[in-house]
Amino acid sequence: MTNKYMYFVANWKMFGGVKSLNSLDKVIKFLRSFKKKNFIKIVYCPPNTLIDLMVKKLKKTKIYVGAQNCHESEKFGAFTGSVNPMMLKNVGARYVIIGHSEIREKGETNKIINLKIHNALKSGLKVIFCIGETSSEKKNKMTKNVLNKQIKFGLDRIRNNKSIIIAYEPVWAIGSGIIPKTNELLETVEFIKKKTKNIKVLYGGSVNPKNIHRLNLIDNLDGYLIGGASQESKKFIDIIKKTYN
Ligand code: 13P
Repeated sequence: MTNKYMYFVANWKMFGGVKSLNSLDKVIKFLRSFKKKNFIKIVYCPPNTLIDLMVKKLKKTKIYVGAQNCHESEKFGAFTGSVNPMMLKNVGARYVIIGHSEIREKGETNKIINLKIHNALKSGLKVIFCIGETSSEKKNKMTKNVLNKQIKFGLDRIRNNKSIIIAYEPVWAIGSGIIPKTNELLETVEFIKKKTKNIKVLYGGSVNPKNIHRLNLIDNLDGYLIGGASQESKKFIDIIKKTYN
C-alpha cells in the first residue's frame, strides 16, 4: 500500500498484433474511475509495429506510449532494420527503454547504451534505463560492482537526469517467477539512488498480482517495469489496484 506517485510501465516485448490493442479498453476504463489516478503514470511499450496505432488509440487518455529500444544514431542512415529516437518521437512515443538485458545479451555495450541515451534525450524522449546483474554475478557478490559500472558508463556525460528513470531488473528475476528478498531489494535501490543522485528507480522482473504486496514493502521504489503480466489487462490492473489499496 502506498500513497506515492508510481510508474507502471508495460513492456510487451515481442508480443502483440493489431488486435491486442483492444485489451487496452479495460485499462482506459479502469483509469477513468480509479480514485488514485493522479498518483500513477502508465506507460505502454509495445513492439514498434504498434506504436503509431497505440498513440492514436490513447490520444485522449493519460496513458503514454514508449518504445522498447532504439538505434544509437540521431540521424537517418543506412541501418537496415533499425529505428532511431527521432523516428520514435515522430510517431508519438514519449519514452524509450534502453539497456534491457535481453538486448545487452546480444552484445549491446555500455558505450552504445550511453550513446543511445544521449540521442534519445536529444530527441526529446524520456529514457527508461535498465540495469541489473546476472545470477552468476549475484552468486559472486558482484551486484554492486556491476550496477556501479552500468550506471557510470551508461550515464557518462548525461546532464538531464530529470528525463531518466532507472529500471533495476536483476537478469535472474526476469521471466523466472522469482523476485529478490525484501531487504536485498531495499538495499540495492538505496545504492542506486545514492549513485545517481536520486534518479527514480523502478523494479522489474516477474512482477505479478501475487507478489506485488511483497514488492510494495520497498518504500523507496518509484514503480514497476512489467513484462509478462502487462500483456493481460486484468493482471496489470490488479497490480495497480493492489499497490494503492
Ligand atoms: P517479466 O515481468 O516477464 O519477468 O519481464 C520483466 C522485464 O523484462 C520487463 O522489462
